[in-house]
Amino acid sequence: MIKIAFFDTKPYDRRWFDRLAGDYGCKIKYFETKLTADTAITAQGYDAVVAFVNDVIDAPAVDRLMEAGVRLIALRSAGYNNVDFRYACDKIPVVRVPAYSPSAVAEHAAALLLTLARKTHRAYVRTREFNFNISGLDGFDLHGKTVGVVGTGRIGQAFISICRGLGMRVLAHDPYPVDGLGLEYVPRETIWRESDVISLHCPLTPDTHHLVNADTIAQMKEGVILLNTSRGALIDSEALLEGLKSHKVGAAGLDVYEEESDLFFEDFSNSIIQDDTLSLLLSLPNVLITSHQAFLTDQALHNIAQTTLENIHRYFDKGELVNEICYHKDK
Ligand code: NAI
Repeated sequence: MIKIAFFDTKPYDRRWFDRLAGDYGCKIKYFETKLTADTAITAQGYDAVVAFVNDVIDAPAVDRLMEAGVRLIALRSAGYNNVDFRYACDKIPVVRVPAYSPSAVAEHAAALLLTLARKTHRAYVRTREFNFNISGLDGFDLHGKTVGVVGTGRIGQAFISICRGLGMRVLAHDPYPVDGLGLEYVPRETIWRESDVISLHCPLTPDTHHLVNADTIAQMKEGVILLNTSRGALIDSEALLEGLKSHKVGAAGLDVYEEESDLFFEDFSNSIIQDDTLSLLLSLPNVLITSHQAFLTDQALHNIAQTTLENIHRYFDKGELVNEICYHKDK
């Protein structure tokens, strides 16, 4: 049996991993704690660790995992900006789940967009209190509007087909354009200048950190709708708040937030959170924040468990590294 230490566990993780673990010869111990340099010692005696988006696998954590005898880091996520994989290279292999359900994330981005466009989040609250007044709930048609999609990988493409179904004009930006999709690729500046809606579907890298900032917001259309289901730090949250306060930004739908790691996935409903920017964003009627749940569908959770366990099984039983995040290949 391959022994796995599973970090940052939530009930919805266990359901699918428990069902499938035996099929892949794996025995899982679930830990609620996040994986960091301080908690890595918990993995002593385990063959592999399974980690998620807010675990911090920096160089000290990699060292601790090596000392603990861990031989594989298996991310149960697509994004890997939380791992110092350059440092891990040649020490412990890192694998991930490159695609588990692009539709799940794309459909969530569309849900944020449709909600903001028609204010159904506010209507829901009103009618629950038998307030059937519709003043202030006026929205706008998406049909005929221009959507700028930054990143045309798996999720970006799925989002584009939804937008096309809604009758929107699509502009795309990606340093690696995809042929054959009939996409109109434009420079970033054109996305900012011409889009009524901008949706981010690129990874977080040094190049994309604070891609949306005071300067780029200034170039956008008055009333632009911003959507981010990728990684929080793609947007400078302070600049977004200023943009919303000045009405330059018409609405924002965020499934991710740059300071989410200590907050998202936990219940703070009885606490006073100390992040004033997040509190202010949440207080605005035209901001819709979900806590990194775009991936949370049955299909996606099943695929995440299956691919993660397959990655682990293939490495330990066959010596194969599938879905590896490899520095050498990226150079
Ligand atoms: P992907 O790797 O298929 O596509 C990413 C695309 O972004 C690629 O086409 C790449 O060329 C492009 N790109 C890279 N640098 C860029 C730049 N500077 N400007 C514009 N485009 C750039 O990734 P996928 O599966 O589509 O995922 C996209 C992002 O979604 C992931 O990086 C991850 O951060 C996020 N994600 C969020 C989830 C959630 O639950 N909210 C779940 C899964 C992924």
